[in-house]
Amino acid sequence: MQAIMKKGVGLAPDRWIPGGVPDPLIARAKNGSIGTALSRIDGPLKVQGHARFAAEFDIENMTYAALAYSTIPKGRIAALDVAAAEASPGVLLVMTHHNCPRLKPTPVFLSDDKAAGGSDLPVMQDECIYWNGQPIALVLAETHEQAQHAASLIRATYVEEPAETCFAQAKKHARHVEFQGEPLQVAIGDAEEALAAAPFAVDSLYETPRHNHNAIELHAATLIWDGDDLRLHDATQGVAHTAWTLAQIFGLDESQVHVSSPYVGGGFGGKTLWWHQILAAAAARLAKRPVRVTLSREGVYRLVGGRANTEQRVALGADTDGKFKALIHTGYAAMTTHNAMPEPFILPAMSMYGAEAIKLDVQVADLDMLANTFMRAPGESVGTFALESAIDELAERMEIDPIELRLRNEPGKDPVNGLPFSARHSAQAWRDGAERFGWADRNALPGMRREGEWLVGMGAAGATYPYYRMPGSAARLTLRRDGHVTVDVAAHEMGMGTATVHTQVTADRLGLSSEQVTVNYGDTSLPGTILAGGSQQTAAVGAAVRAAFDAMVAELLKLAGNTSPLAGLKPSEIEGRDGGLGKIGDPAAHESYAAILARAQREELQVEAKPAMPLEIMHWSMHSHGAMFCEVRVNAITGEPRVSRFLGSFDCGRILNPKTAASQFRGGMIMGLGLALTEEAQFDERKGRIMNASLSDYHLPVHMDVPKIEVMWTDIPDPHTPMGARGIGEIGITGTAAAIANAVYNATGKRVRSLPITLDKLI
Ligand code: MOS
Repeated sequence: MQAIMKKGVGLAPDRWIPGGVPDPLIARAKNGSIGTALSRIDGPLKVQGHARFAAEFDIENMTYAALAYSTIPKGRIAALDVAAAEASPGVLLVMTHHNCPRLKPTPVFLSDDKAAGGSDLPVMQDECIYWNGQPIALVLAETHEQAQHAASLIRATYVEEPAETCFAQAKKHARHVEFQGEPLQVAIGDAEEALAAAPFAVDSLYETPRHNHNAIELHAATLIWDGDDLRLHDATQGVAHTAWTLAQIFGLDESQVHVSSPYVGGGFGGKTLWWHQILAAAAARLAKRPVRVTLSREGVYRLVGGRANTEQRVALGADTDGKFKALIHTGYAAMTTHNAMPEPFILPAMSMYGAEAIKLDVQVADLDMLANTFMRAPGESVGTFALESAIDELAERMEIDPIELRLRNEPGKDPVNGLPFSARHSAQAWRDGAERFGWADRNALPGMRREGEWLVGMGAAGATYPYYRMPGSAARLTLRRDGHVTVDVAAHEMGMGTATVHTQVTADRLGLSSEQVTVNYGDTSLPGTILAGGSQQTAAVGAAVRAAFDAMVAELLKLAGNTSPLAGLKPSEIEGRDGGLGKIGDPAAHESYAAILARAQREELQVEAKPAMPLEIMHWSMHSHGAMFCEVRVNAITGEPRVSRFLGSFDCGRILNPKTAASQFRGGMIMGLGLALTEEAQFDERKGRIMNASLSDYHLPVHMDVPKIEVMWTDIPDPHTPMGARGIGEIGITGTAAAIANAVYNATGKRVRSLPITLDKLI
């Protein structure tokens, strides 16, 4: 996605259509449903317990799966003693590499438009072990507890082989890899030379640890074979992706795999296809019974990849006026050879600042470990920590206000590919945020403000996330004579407000009230291949609804005929308004949907359409922006850091629903608090095993850790996106850790370059 954008294929401006035609809804959204704080449609269902999640579907004759995991990082299973498990009460089947059906390789996420697999390693296909925690057996039993107990009785003996589980060692053989078909390297001018010649410079290393996915809803699936068709209720960010990928693994046609996922209890990049769904489907085939698999919390740590650890160098050289002469961001990320996610921490440096010379470079260090994967703002989350810390370090050295230094280096166009920005109001986000937060009260000298035991400081950092719109989306509209419309779209509700926002968007597009719109989603029977990822689902669905509406207008004009007030009008002259179609700019030329359908003797009209390819990303550099402000208190005696105030000021295009948007931003920022202060998957480098595989040992921010968080935005529509909106799901986590690190420095004079910023680093 990013790679396509950065290639910057330049077509002549007159061919920028359709990506370049502003969505008519941008101008008309002012008094409509868009922009109103509609409460979540799924809210009451969830509060009342009526929303059913993947592990809550009942199927008659259900069995329950539990997994046993390897305890070595690499080698072979010498013997597997399953006798006690097989004899355990309620056990129907113990599946190991001896009896697991033969499976075709898993297409890994990003290797194909519809690929959803976390890794392409063969699991339970032979005696080989590739990572510590790999599933070695699956038990099916009559109850969940019986299955868990029996799985605990399985005993394995191994022949260990040498494994690479040490990051420092693996770095010695680091390699360059492509991300989305493009190298993760940029070289403009000679940045090292420019750095050496710059009158002011900083050059530091930053480290970020591994992170695990910890969605509240555990990974789960309930599935059944229906002849040769596979039916799943799955917790997934991509129903169509899951169906297609499972079809490849089991040698089926994609139409034979049916996935439903009406609610997902948190995704963040981790709710894709891992081994639990694959192995449960294989076991269901053997047992000829339906299976429910729910990973334990530890199971999520063994089976579902997380964010890789990184070591990043950021070096900045500036002239006496603060303008960047050199911007260098290079380093290493851990990875396996079996996935496609080289943590791309240089992405923020590709668009945030102008510099005369730029050098960006990611190398990966291959480890024998659980495959790493996408986690909210992969690349930007940890990349902004390093980059935005370094900018503050330079500002300190130059005795310039760190916000002023950033504003002096605002680029006029994309610094890497030279494309114009579709819309960039980051400076406004900075200024508005600084005023609201009271930045002027900050003492530029660190360690100067003390309240009792507490040292108090303020910090800020930039946030950014790209705009994406993946191809493959589609939508079906069914308009009834009573003016009700149903939108069918294979999108996902992970709690971010998908159904709510698209109810609003569709209502405005058609000129209906939100009560007249129903959005169906989360099922492969619905049109489109849509990922709830890359902060792009809203753009993908919005574009599809726009395309379907355009198709519907053409149909309705045909049905309207010669006696309609709309007779003779072209689709491009038409808008949806007041329960029907009207001529743009002419209040008199209007006919209701009911009247058009009644005259044509139609009860309903159904259309389905796909939007144009996302060409907009080839013509503009498209990014969301933000400015993060925080106040921290660090205990002078214990070193305990506390964030006492946080403000996110965002420039993300038009905000479609201020209530759901604020929640998305705030959620991202809370996840950023974890990134900054608490989260770290502790990886035993002797054995490649994650040691803190539980929520009691892996620390997430709890209520006590979360301060009052304010959110504000520019609300300036991006003329080149559907509805004028850009994605908002991921940007909230970016910049957060650097803002906190910068505030900790301001409070204490201590610069922490290694996350998380725990108290031991501050005493
Ligand atoms: Mo997100 S990491 O694109 O689910």
